[in-house]
Amino acid sequence: MDSNKTVLISGGAGYIGSHTAVELINAGYDVVIIDNLSNSDAAAVEGVEKITGRKIPFEIVDTCDPVALKGVFEKYEFETVIHFAAYKAVGESMDKPLMYYQNNLVSFMNIVEMMMQFNRRNILFSSSATVYGEAETLPVTESTPRQPATSPYGNTKQIAEDILRDCCRACAGLHGIALRYFNPIGAHPSALIGELPRGVPNNLVPFVTQTAAGIRECLSVFGDDYDTPDGTCLRDYIDVVDLAKAHVAAVNRMTDDKMKEKYEIFNVGTGNPVSVLELITTFERVNDLKLPYKITPRRPGDVPAVWADTTLANEELGWKAERSLDDTLRSAWKWEKHVRGL
Ligand code: UFG
Repeated sequence: MDSNKTVLISGGAGYIGSHTAVELINAGYDVVIIDNLSNSDAAAVEGVEKITGRKIPFEIVDTCDPVALKGVFEKYEFETVIHFAAYKAVGESMDKPLMYYQNNLVSFMNIVEMMMQFNRRNILFSSSATVYGEAETLPVTESTPRQPATSPYGNTKQIAEDILRDCCRACAGLHGIALRYFNPIGAHPSALIGELPRGVPNNLVPFVTQTAAGIRECLSVFGDDYDTPDGTCLRDYIDVVDLAKAHVAAVNRMTDDKMKEKYEIFNVGTGNPVSVLELITTFERVNDLKLPYKITPRRPGDVPAVWADTTLANEELGWKAERSLDDTLRSAWKWEKHVRGL
């Protein structure tokens, strides 16, 4: 394995991690996956192997465990780490803040610590559009001020961004990129990998697909009295394969030594705001089915609208979202049917 062409993926059995593994391999990289399987399944790694026809080095390791993590750094040569491994449910983080701070921050600090100890160069961090909160101007650019986090989950993203910025400044050999994801949805066109939420989904599209599959009785639309064109919230839904390709572009930028600063941030979205009702009607149209839904009160903490200005990612990463919402919502349904054996 060429160390400059090898990427360690923490959380690589997860939703975004598994899709990113596929696209990295397609682009000529070798990957090593670590995951503690706390919210993922080893079947995702098998899915990556099926899609790519490659055997993937995979270790069940918790990035919060410094001894186990050190073993990975001793065993494999890689210049780049993509750190996905984290808890991600906003509501759960309100109930269990310490669990979120411990898991998301300890794991991240362990990774950065190992990178510095072992002189590994590049770290790509999964951040979130949640750092923008209720932005004063839309769409948001990377220099739109972050708002105080409204959940411990969101706070872990802000703190980890700051840790990365400070460590890149302090450690000559370390380079960092934070990708701020908007709303990742959809699945690989093969339907061999996709999102596998445990229990009742918090996010819109898994709830939509589970309702279509008859697992949920009725979808709740959280509020139709927002100051938006149809009264429902606006989000920037980014196809997970497009998102995975943004990681490849960011890894290329790091390994080709093209970064302009030692720490950089990019928005990863489509730039197109889509309302909850638009998403539902698009899902119904492209999959030719009817979705039972009702309007319910607003969900506390939801911002009325957020979408990305993607100019920086377009120009600097040479990356642009390509898949249409129609295709993405087709892939989401194809995946749900595959999982349920429908
Ligand atoms: N929604 C519903 N019904 C549902 C679920 C969601 O109407 O059953 C609505 C929400 O109110 C919101 C939209 O669908 O308007 C999207 O909600 P999601 O939960 O899918 O996504 P969020 O925008 O709330 O959150 C996502 C990620 C977070 C991340 C955030 C960044 O889940 O991790 O984007 O903006 F922090």
